[in-house]
Parts: sequence; C-alpha cells; structure tokens
Amino acid sequence: EDALRIRSSLLRWYDEHQRVLPWRTRSSSDGDGEEEEEDRAYAVWVSEVMLQQTRVQTVIEYYNRWMARWPTLRLLAGATQEEVNEMWAGLGYYRRARFLLEGAKSIVQEGEFPRTASALRGVRGIGDYTAGAIASIAFNEAVPVVDGNVVRVISRLMAISANPKETSTVKTFWRLAGQLVDPDRPGDFNQAMMELGATLCSKTSPSCSACPVSKQCRAFLLSISNPSVKVIDY
Ligand code: ADE
Repeated sequence: EDALRIRSSLLRWYDEHQRVLPWRTRSSSDGDGEEEEEDRAYAVWVSEVMLQQTRVQTVIEYYNRWMARWPTLRLLAGATQEEVNEMWAGLGYYRRARFLLEGAKSIVQEGEFPRTASALRGVRGIGDYTAGAIASIAFNEAVPVVDGNVVRVISRLMAISANPKETSTVKTFWRLAGQLVDPDRPGDFNQAMMELGATLCSKTSPSCSACPVSKQCRAFLLSISNPSVKVIDY
C-alpha cells in the first residue's frame, strides 16, 4: 500500500537528513517519565508557536534565549506579560506571546499538561496545528499536523489540485493527513512532512530527483509521463 511505503521512505529520509534544531535535541523515547514528556511538550509548544510566522533561522536564537530564561512551563507561568513581550520583541504578532503566557498559567493552575490533541485544543491560543504538533511530537498521539507545506506535499503525492485557501480544502487535507500519519512515529512523521515541504518539495522548484517519496508521488509520475502537465505550485 502507498501509505506504508510513504511512511517508511519518508521516515528513513528524515532520520538521515533532518535539520539539527534545538527543540529536537531530546527525543520522546529518551525518557518515559511524565515530567520529561511535559518538558518536551512545553519545548514543542514554544518552538511551534514561534515557527508559525517566523523562519527557522530566526526562531533558533529566540528559542534558545526563551528556554534559557524559562526552562519549564512552571517558570514561564510565573513571568509577567512585560517580561514575555520583551523576550518576544522582534518576532511580531505579540498575540502569540500573550497566548503562550496565558496558556502556561492556566495549565499550571489546572495541574497537568493536557496530553491529547483534543484536550490541548481547550487551552486558549492552542489551535488544531499546535495541538497536533504537541500531541504527536511530545505524547506520541497518532494525529496529523497540517500547515502550508503539508498541504503542498499531500497535493502532490495525491495529485489533488484544489484551492488551498478554502475551508473545505483544508478540512480534506486534515483528513488525508490523518490517514497518512505513521501510528508508530507520529511526531517524526509530521515533522518529516513539514521538513520535506520546507526543503525538497518547494513551491516552484521541487527537487524530485532527491525526494524519498517520488515513487509514490502522483504529481511526479504524471509529470514524467506527460511533461506538459502543470505541477502543483502552491
Ligand atoms: N515547521 C514548523 N514546525 C516544524 C517542525 N517541527 N519541523 C519542521 N518544520 C517545521
């Protein structure tokens, strides 16, 4: 089945080629303590919120400074809005920083980090994307994560050309991504999809010859059999 081949090829590629990023330094299998999982959930949360409108290279520096100042959720929950804004200065969209602080305070007050995507969505400021990222990467829940890169990758894999701005399209992609996500390594799988979209499977000049899933990619196969086929470019 295509899904099985896509999972194994993509994960093999990710194991070999993933970028070394500070929020990836601990793998979820390093420790099985709940406390370690919660620290990881916090780290994933901070990094994913920062990554939402900002490039990876810029985020690295902000992330490292943030984690040096507030290494745990509990410590962040004791910060003030002013301190957080100061740390955020330059990243823009200060609403993101406010939600992080409010979310940290409410989770600490509740007493434990929500461990499923559905429970995470109940935290103010955590939407489908962040909930999926935290649940899959930190808690190994087999839920998908869909961002613009993932929409493009799936569009090409399945040769679906649909307006990515439409709500119904986005819903369709969450469903498709949910069928594709690897049940054993959901966090790595989701990050591999985002990474593929951010690197090889670029908007205008995809590197299909280096792509681990070109053999399962309908858009690629169509373009070989008919070079005049328009490749999905969003
Ligand atoms: N873009 C946003 N979050 C990402 C992640 N965890 N891995 C790769 N690319 C990303």
